[in-house]
Amino acid sequence: MTKQSALLSAPTSSLLLEVVNGALVIRHWGAPINGDLADVAVAARVSIANSSWDEPQLPGVMRESSRGFLGRPSLSGHRNGKAWSTKFEVTDFHHQDNHCAVTLRDFHAELEVNITFDLDVHGVLIQKANIKNIGESEYALNEYIHWLPLPQEATQTLDFAGRWSNERQPQRRDIQTGTWVRESREGRSGHNFSIADIALTSQTSFQSGSAWATSIAWSGNSHYLVERGFDGGQSIGAGELLLPGEVILKANESYQAPALFAVFSAHGLDGVSTTFHSHLRARSVHPKRPRPLTLNMWEALYFDHDEAKIKELIDVASEIGIERVVLDDGWFHSRRNDRSGLGDWVVDPAVWPQGLTPIIEYINGKGIEFGLWFEGEMVNPDSDLYRNHPEWILHEGDRTPPLWRHQLVLDLSHEGAYSHVLEQTSSILATHAIAYIKWDHNRVLVDAGHLGHAGVHQQTQAIYRLFAELKKRHPGLEIESCASGGARIDLGVIDLVDRFWTSDNNDALERQRIQRWTSQVIPPELLGTHIGPTHGHQTGRTLELSMRATTALFGHAGIEWNITEATDQERKHLATWAAYYKENRALLHSGKSIRIDYPDDHGYLYGVSALDTKKSIFAYVQLTPTAVIHPAALKFPGLDPHATYLVKAVFPAGKPRYMLISPPTWIEGVKISGSALAAIGVSAPILAPANALLIEITKL
Ligand code: DGJ
Repeated sequence: MTKQSALLSAPTSSLLLEVVNGALVIRHWGAPINGDLADVAVAARVSIANSSWDEPQLPGVMRESSRGFLGRPSLSGHRNGKAWSTKFEVTDFHHQDNHCAVTLRDFHAELEVNITFDLDVHGVLIQKANIKNIGESEYALNEYIHWLPLPQEATQTLDFAGRWSNERQPQRRDIQTGTWVRESREGRSGHNFSIADIALTSQTSFQSGSAWATSIAWSGNSHYLVERGFDGGQSIGAGELLLPGEVILKANESYQAPALFAVFSAHGLDGVSTTFHSHLRARSVHPKRPRPLTLNMWEALYFDHDEAKIKELIDVASEIGIERVVLDDGWFHSRRNDRSGLGDWVVDPAVWPQGLTPIIEYINGKGIEFGLWFEGEMVNPDSDLYRNHPEWILHEGDRTPPLWRHQLVLDLSHEGAYSHVLEQTSSILATHAIAYIKWDHNRVLVDAGHLGHAGVHQQTQAIYRLFAELKKRHPGLEIESCASGGARIDLGVIDLVDRFWTSDNNDALERQRIQRWTSQVIPPELLGTHIGPTHGHQTGRTLELSMRATTALFGHAGIEWNITEATDQERKHLATWAAYYKENRALLHSGKSIRIDYPDDHGYLYGVSALDTKKSIFAYVQLTPTAVIHPAALKFPGLDPHATYLVKAVFPAGKPRYMLISPPTWIEGVKISGSALAAIGVSAPILAPANALLIEITKL
């Protein structure tokens, strides 16, 4: 029989697959390889160890104990206690270019698995799997995990933990024998969801070193795993976390596992983000229009929907140059606070006696778009919907799940509940000039049953269906995915939404870290970044406008502040900042995001460089007071080494607060070659803590 193997290669990575004794084996995932690979298997054959198998075992991607695997298998399930162990054989192997589709069957367990691997030109490997019951009896699927092998030089992992207002806190740790599992059981991807799980060497930094990154494309429960066996083999995996009995396949039914997106980078964590960003930007659904400068009125109004006050805000917004205004929570039936109204998606005449049309017309009259907030998956017990249909919530038996923000979760797999939300939402969109909605999800799912079975899997599919249907019915509709801030940011929902609300924390200092790590996977144009109030509502911290404005520039920018309270000077600065954003968003939203390995822990140095390196915009941020008088020089790698650049600081929203007598002279402008900028750089000014300096680097 001819050898069945496939080499998928991108400029930055390769995947080598081979069928060995009926098993599908990943020989290599990592750095690009080519040339004569015929003897890779011979080269990789391991010794026969003491107290071990008589022949080396190659369990392959299914990781079965029947093939000598002692770690966690890819597939687990049973047929009423039988078919608990599998031995899949490859029955079809199709390879073309960078696509490989493999069918594996186990006729004893009566299962078929179809796995596809696609490596795109940017270096993103997409792994999909479909599990089909080819028997007569029911097959209860416990889990399916996509696994990829890790070489032993991957000695550490980086994942992200979080909570409300403090999303994506990096956790870096050594890999040791055993399994490190990051579970997400919030029923949405979650604040504590790890947007990526990345294996690294101990030396890997933003700019250099190897990284093997994974991101699971799912907005429900999920888990990431890194496993190291006592034989030294190690791997990284992820999949949907299924609750007991959540997926039971009847004859001929299939389970489509959420896709795994995987990236290998030989150029550090920035190599990973560049690859993810390029891949995401190449999607046909990636937003094409320049991202409108947005005013979200939540922190200016909360539930106080006073039309006169809103008009005042709009007037100031229009002077500043705002292009989109979002009316947040509080516009619908009986929603005077967060205790009632969710589920009744009709305009409340108590606050909007003439409906929303007059205010929308007022806003549109100023040349500004209008957007509206929904939280369609939720219901307050104090709502007409709940009073009429208490049975439409996710629940188990006769229990009602504990309240969270005074709300429960609607069971969208219930046809009645689904069409209620779809029709009410759709009717608001059909009868108003609204092409933008912010869709929130403010609580976790617990005890989330649908007709006596665990219901998170179906709920997740239902919200995908609902978003797709809304977009189909209302062409051009943009959706912002929000979940108490950044609790639904993932590659599962990304093709259905146009913006993520990154975090409810608008404190610019906190946002530095949150944005830094969210952009590990998501490009900045999809991340909502707003200038918050002078005194942050979440932390109470007082920050300079220049710091808040610089922070908000590196994303889909906006304002979330009662700007009627801004001083004349602040309004002028907001207007010049708005103009700066509009002038530079094409670069900020298409360039390469760069996080410099700045040697001083007290500061961040990061920015965006145009792909042709003609212009870059960087921020130098003083997070905490400098330890030394003169912090480390600001060096900018990656520019054209032979070209001359003009480097200068720019102040679209006013100057930062310095702690010095006079700042370095280069701030006014200095000409220097790309190679000198990388090797020598410019001196760092002494900024007061929680201040930022914006730097422009332009090729001459
Ligand atoms: C949580 C969101 O993250 C906020 O931006 C805001 O929309 C509130 N919910 C409204 O209730």
